[in-house]
Amino acid sequence: MRRPLVAGNWKMYGTRQSVDELLIGLNEQHWPDEVDLLIAPPALYVQQCREALEGSPLRLAGQSCAFQAESGALTGEISPAQLRDVGCEFVLVGHSERRSLFGETDEVVCRKFAAALACGLRPILCVGETREQYDSGETADVVGRQLQAVLDTFGVGGLAQGVVAYEPVWAIGTGLTATPEQAQDVHAMIRARLAVLDDEQAQCVQIVYGGSVKAENAHALFEMPDIDGGLVGGASLNANEFGAIARAA
Ligand code: G3H
Repeated sequence: MRRPLVAGNWKMYGTRQSVDELLIGLNEQHWPDEVDLLIAPPALYVQQCREALEGSPLRLAGQSCAFQAESGALTGEISPAQLRDVGCEFVLVGHSERRSLFGETDEVVCRKFAAALACGLRPILCVGETREQYDSGETADVVGRQLQAVLDTFGVGGLAQGVVAYEPVWAIGTGLTATPEQAQDVHAMIRARLAVLDDEQAQCVQIVYGGSVKAENAHALFEMPDIDGGLVGGASLNANEFGAIARAA
């Protein structure tokens, strides 16, 4: 009943030339019909991607957005309305790099979620615990708190308009993937938490896993019942690898 979703987050990588090369590789892939497919390039290259991907099933996402929907005096920010204007349909909010390196609090993340929805973008709410929090058994508390900030305002129905990405911080860019069972436990916990509030909507929420997803581990992760796909960082910069991950979903 839930469509799988595979998203590539290019982070702050790429030049016009390398983006061109990556797009050529992406256009050579055989994409599965039954999977939602997206890429989140650096905002500067969204237009370049849009032109090259015309007719492709790959859809565009922003990597972050301002906490205000429309224009304003916010130097350096990109509004959700601007992301929509250049063809984005999704946007990441609360990625752990934004939380840890740019001080984004749950409150700010919630405002971004709201601003994205107000512009018709589907927000991908990223949640996940640090290594220390994992080691001290705080995963459920941390992830629960991050979700609750959005649930308090939007409920499960609002969350279901977006996507949840569970990304244990200790697995991001480290090569240390959570095992399928570890990830499934957290995804099931998230869904159970949502089901207490609204079981019907909880079954509709796409919950994807991120953290060192590669072609070689994607299938085992994606076949878990509550893992609905992946948010892929490093491996999404290689067209063949990203294609293989998408086909594993
Ligand atoms: O947004 C993507 C995640 O941060 C995962 O990155 O696949 O390089 O570990 P990674």
